[in-house]
Amino acid sequence: MTNNGTARHAIAIYPGSFDPLTMGHMDVIGRAAAIFERVLVAVVVNPQKREPLFTLEERKTMIGASVHDAELANVDVTDFRGLLADFVRAQSVDVIVKGLRVVSDFENEMSTALMNRSLSGVDTVFMPSDPRYSFISSSMVKEVFFLGGTIDEYVPLAVLRTMRDKRDGLR
Ligand code: PNS
Repeated sequence: MTNNGTARHAIAIYPGSFDPLTMGHMDVIGRAAAIFERVLVAVVVNPQKREPLFTLEERKTMIGASVHDAELANVDVTDFRGLLADFVRAQSVDVIVKGLRVVSDFENEMSTALMNRSLSGVDTVFMPSDPRYSFISSSMVKEVFFLGGTIDEYVPLAVLRTMRDKRDGLR
């Protein structure tokens, strides 16, 4: 943050699949909310990697409830399809926020950040994951949960409830 408080007036976007939101994501959202004036959590409509377990509405509702429970008043939830760079420009966002857990995250995120800056002119700020959450991923949380493991420490309560509903619905 600069001495003249520039970052406090910046709008940040935190994009992702959030299938589902984890405590690692929440940690990044909370820390970004303390730095930037406004944080837009942007859920990608169709993740490239695989078909999401949760619908777009479920993913957004879980994030909205978790942000509300954490009393983060300057955080909003939105969604986007297509290129992040196009959405960033359309929303007049100042900075993209990404969390980094391990070195392999950096390798992927570095080229993505450079491409996004080349396409949109908007820079990416990397936030190192809190070590408590550096091993948590959405895919691991889903695997542990559906194989009967306990994930209470790894996801916000609103996510845990939705995951239980989803599991009961699948039975
Ligand atoms: O939570 P994830 O799956 O790591 O999030 C990845 C996401 C959604 C941020 C990334 O896939 C993305 O930005 N997708 C939008 C399409 C896009 O802009 N692709 C070009 C990136 S160089």
